[in-house]
Amino acid sequence: MNESRPPVPAENRTSASGLRVGIIGCGAIAINHLDAYNRHEDAFVANCMDTDPDRASTFAREHGIPAWTTDTGELLSAVDVVSVCTPHPTHEALVLQAARAGVDVLCEKPLAIDVQSAERMVNACREAGIHLGAVFQRRFWPAAQRIRAALDADALGSPILARAEVLLHRDASYYTATPWRGKWESDGGGVLMTQAIHYVDLLQWYLGDVDWVMATADTFKHGDYIEVEDTLAATLRFTSGAIAQFTASTALTPALGQRLSITGSHGATVSLLEYPEGTSAVNEVWTVPGHEAFTHPAAVLDDVALPEINASLAPFHALQVADFVHAVRQGTEPAVTGEDALRSLHTMTAMYASMRSGQPERPGGGTQPVVPTEPVREVSR
Ligand SMILES: NC(=O)c1ccc[n+]([C@@H]2O[C@H](COP(=O)([O-])OP(=O)(O)OC[C@H]3O[C@@H](n4cnc5c(N)ncnc54)[C@H](O)[C@@H]3O)[C@@H](O)[C@H]2O)c1
Repeated sequence: MNESRPPVPAENRTSASGLRVGIIGCGAIAINHLDAYNRHEDAFVANCMDTDPDRASTFAREHGIPAWTTDTGELLSAVDVVSVCTPHPTHEALVLQAARAGVDVLCEKPLAIDVQSAERMVNACREAGIHLGAVFQRRFWPAAQRIRAALDADALGSPILARAEVLLHRDASYYTATPWRGKWESDGGGVLMTQAIHYVDLLQWYLGDVDWVMATADTFKHGDYIEVEDTLAATLRFTSGAIAQFTASTALTPALGQRLSITGSHGATVSLLEYPEGTSAVNEVWTVPGHEAFTHPAAVLDDVALPEINASLAPFHALQVADFVHAVRQGTEPAVTGEDALRSLHTMTAMYASMRSGQPERPGGGTQPVVPTEPVREVSR
């Protein structure tokens, strides 16, 4: 606690003017959460917390947040809802503390870097009767929702084939300027755990549970300063029988964007393209009879800086925050639950297990943790 921190004004301690929100972790993505709540008529950010007092105080001052602290317990006693925006391995302790305090939690992806940790989080929130939402804001793109609606309307038949490509650019400073990035212990993985996770989530939202995966990976571009994979290719077989091909890399210059396409048993294909990274996707290919279209965005061959990417994501954080506030108010399930995040984590854990074993692996089938004992690049050669 900081003595010079202004107290929460009395009028802000009631929920009459909206849910009182606390933001934990005042780094790069926190601003998307702040803007989203502040745009919502039924919520306002009452407090923020960071283990670094300079970050907490600066964030509070720059954004007119009435109180800040370095003490999680103090924050939790003053709010109804928290957004957890800290590095992945810290999520569990913070979510468990929120559950004990009875505070609803919207947690940034990945929920955790290992399945056991994510299970403890999901179970603790269920037992405490609080909402646990996991941020996968790409589900809120109109283009992503249109694919979900097409599947619901059986416009494609059963999905038989999917392709996901996450073809990104990151420079060295992305990893070296933020000490927790690029390490197994603190990042939990590379391009799969941090960037492509959104596309694992989308694939499973569309195609359901994964039966087995076969994956291989390497560290081609960033190996001088990261331990984790920067490039991977995988095949996924779903319990429905559908097959997906998945490729991801942060080694491209320039980036070529992120694509997902699904072909159904009727023969039609629907797809989305996120290009440049962070911008709302477009439905690039749509061959459903009577609705055929091909839409490609104008070429942008310059790579986009990370703050710009995060800013482009903000409208979709806003939609997910609005959904979460609605769920808290109505006592309903949020659109993306902790269980959803656990499902994609199971799949990614199997992908990492396959990179190490060179064998197909089933989600939930192994006991190996996400953090391998050997770097993926050594066993995948
Ligand atoms: N949904 C998305 O598209 C998206 C985009 C970017 C980041 N993220 C996720 O958001 C999380 C944070 O990423 P970032 O880029 O904002 O990181 P960051 O390093 O910029 O900020 C993290 C902040 O958390 C603080 N912190 C660390 N441990 C803490 C603790 N135990 N309690 C309180 N504060 C603590 C740090 O001091 C720092 O200010 C990550 O899990 C990341 O995967 C999601």
